[in-house]
Amino acid sequence: MIFAANLKCNHTRASFKIYADVLNKTMGVKCDDIIVFPPSIAFLESQTNFIQGAQNFYPCINGAFTGELGKEHLDEFGIKCVLIGHSERRILGDETLIKAKFDFAKEHNYKIVFCIGEDLKTKNSGKTLEFLKSQLDIIDLNYKNLIIAYEPIYSIGTGVSADIKDISSVLEYLTTLSQAPLLYGGSVNENNIKEILSIENCGGVLVGSAALKVENFIKLIKG
Ligand code: 13P
Repeated sequence: MIFAANLKCNHTRASFKIYADVLNKTMGVKCDDIIVFPPSIAFLESQTNFIQGAQNFYPCINGAFTGELGKEHLDEFGIKCVLIGHSERRILGDETLIKAKFDFAKEHNYKIVFCIGEDLKTKNSGKTLEFLKSQLDIIDLNYKNLIIAYEPIYSIGTGVSADIKDISSVLEYLTTLSQAPLLYGGSVNENNIKEILSIENCGGVLVGSAALKVENFIKLIKG
């Protein structure tokens, strides 16, 4: 199972260092199934027992792109894993480069956690699968380092995960499109994780709020 933590705009350089120290000690050895996306200001140069991922980057090596992070900057921290398409970035209007980012990350062999998810209006109109397919149409679904994270927007940050049956049918549909591991994200917490991980075709979770405290994230990992 893959356990990924998206820390979003939380944690400072100092607090993430403590987070990572605790997680490193708990893991003991390098574990490729644990991924943490800290804010980029908090990236660690030291080796970690988890995969450190970037919440955002610009599809360039370097250049005249004010305020952006290029590959050269990720390289300095040994980062080879990126998150693309998170709904919070899409909503900010800041994820217009999704295809360019995907193609760049693929070209450079990054592990890509690609987020998709519908809002409540789309769900209620019965167009979820069609919508998710349209989000996936622009990327290479056979890319070997792809992980797809299904994160229904209406469940993110609410404390209530999507209905197990709904998650199950979406994940089943996604298996017809890609062989990539499939994660679920959206209010995963210690009360619902067991049921979510027991869904057929669920290969792990992408956790926000419930992973902000490292002790809680470890509890989720240990089950
Ligand atoms: P929450 O777990 O806080 O709902 O966030 C999920 C998420 O957006 C992970 O990327």
